[in-house]
Amino acid sequence: MAKKAKSKPTKKAAGRAKPAAKKAVAKRSSAKVVKLKPKMASKKNGKKSMLPPPSKKPFGQAGKALDGVRILDFTHVQSGPTCTQLLAWFGADVIKVERPGIGDITRGQLVDVKGADSLYFTMLNHNKRSITIDSKHPQGKRVLDELIKTCDVLVENFAPGALDRMGLTWEHIHKLNPRMIVASVKGFGPGPYEDCKVYENVAQCTGGSASTTGFRDGPPLVTGAQIGDSGTGLHLALGIVSALYQRTRTGRGQKVLCAMQDGVLNLARVKLRDQQRLKAGPLTEYSQYGEGIPFGDATPRAGNDSGGGQPGWILKCKGWETDPNAYIYFITQAPVWEKICDLIGEPTWKTDPEYSTPRARLPKLKAIFARIEDWTMTLSKFDVMEKCNAVDIPVGPILSMKEIAEDESLRKTGTVVEVDHPTRGKYLSVGNPIKLSDSPTDVQRSPLLGEHTDEVLIKVLGFDKKAIAEIKGSGALSAPEKKDKAA
Ligand code: COA
Repeated sequence: MAKKAKSKPTKKAAGRAKPAAKKAVAKRSSAKVVKLKPKMASKKNGKKSMLPPPSKKPFGQAGKALDGVRILDFTHVQSGPTCTQLLAWFGADVIKVERPGIGDITRGQLVDVKGADSLYFTMLNHNKRSITIDSKHPQGKRVLDELIKTCDVLVENFAPGALDRMGLTWEHIHKLNPRMIVASVKGFGPGPYEDCKVYENVAQCTGGSASTTGFRDGPPLVTGAQIGDSGTGLHLALGIVSALYQRTRTGRGQKVLCAMQDGVLNLARVKLRDQQRLKAGPLTEYSQYGEGIPFGDATPRAGNDSGGGQPGWILKCKGWETDPNAYIYFITQAPVWEKICDLIGEPTWKTDPEYSTPRARLPKLKAIFARIEDWTMTLSKFDVMEKCNAVDIPVGPILSMKEIAEDESLRKTGTVVEVDHPTRGKYLSVGNPIKLSDSPTDVQRSPLLGEHTDEVLIKVLGFDKKAIAEIKGSGALSAPEKKDKAA
């Protein structure tokens, strides 16, 4: 994002090697607003446009969308790393700062290959560089300050106040680099809970998802999709690119905050919709209405009812007795009702006033789905899908992770990718779910702990040999030596 080549370097830091420093800093340090030059103007509809002319390079060869953006990645666990991984996939240079000797705690969590980084870590940290820095050590702070000067965005998801306790206050950062965008994930926004530490399921519970998930007669349920962590990381990424875009006009950075509670609530938006609809009467599309069960004063759990107003349910398919995923989501959408009747062998339901209208069907939905299930149980979920889609009836086979991992079409689109890793070998990961035609994603393995420490010190920050020896000698980049018990 920072203007390349022609921007002036900031003040030279002590201990930086001249050529490398100049090159590295010049690349990123512009504090100016990027102004389009007149020569970039082209003619659009006969009028002069301030936009550059379209690139003549073929799609996919014009560089990556976020080329030139450098991220100081202070994230850990899942929410923050999800965000910075996306930015890296779009071409940003993501430098992950990790605690010496330990690194992101997920490196050692849920380990499946002894001695190798866990899948938890590898699947959330592709395309990044890793540098180890003790952020509380004076020499570590020296390196961090240089990184702040040369990066566009600092992303963090520490516990509330942790960044300040490191001395990296907004004022400090902004003084060093007024263009810096500081993006944070926290559990809660400002308010009574702002100091709380938060993990995925805490957010699912406080964001309204758990109270509205599960069956009416059962307890609240969390979902397996990580809407609190990965969901908030996605929200944060959008905030960051928006702030980068705004910076092209204002020339200054800003704070971007995504609270996990807010991110989950945003995804549970339809349930707050239903909360307000309750005032106008029962929620007729909820199966509890058809079953004659009164509503309370809060949006209830709705089992597998569809959230969009069209009755839907999960039905058994052939083999359900032994296969836990031999099921399909079936929607009795009004426009395809007649086709459903033909398919399941109930043609009279098309004209029978007891079945022909959505309103007439509401009290009988349970029985109707039971009848449809009689039909789906005679076929595999894939056969049901084929027969339904042939007549435009949308259905969703319940795919197991095994089936997804083996799905050829997902491999072809790069949504499921095989990655090679030096200590763990080949593994599967989820690639970039967002496809840009002019910025294709090339998934690269996650970095080993501190793999790029020297590279960043020399090539990005331009420290000379003496400075590097001083910083390294201070212990700011390495784990404290373990004391020999025998000694
Ligand atoms: N060098 C030195 N210290 C470092 C460091 C480094 N490179 N990186 C982290 N630390 C320190 C922090 O400064 C902090 O120290 P402090 O408590 O003295 O200020 C300490 O490590 C612990 O950081 P913290 O963020 O509190 O980790 P935690 O393991 O106790 O808590 C979370 C983890 C996720 C609960 C917490 O970070 C959090 O609530 N984050 C915001 C919400 C979030 O993202 N949650 C979802 C995670 S997927």
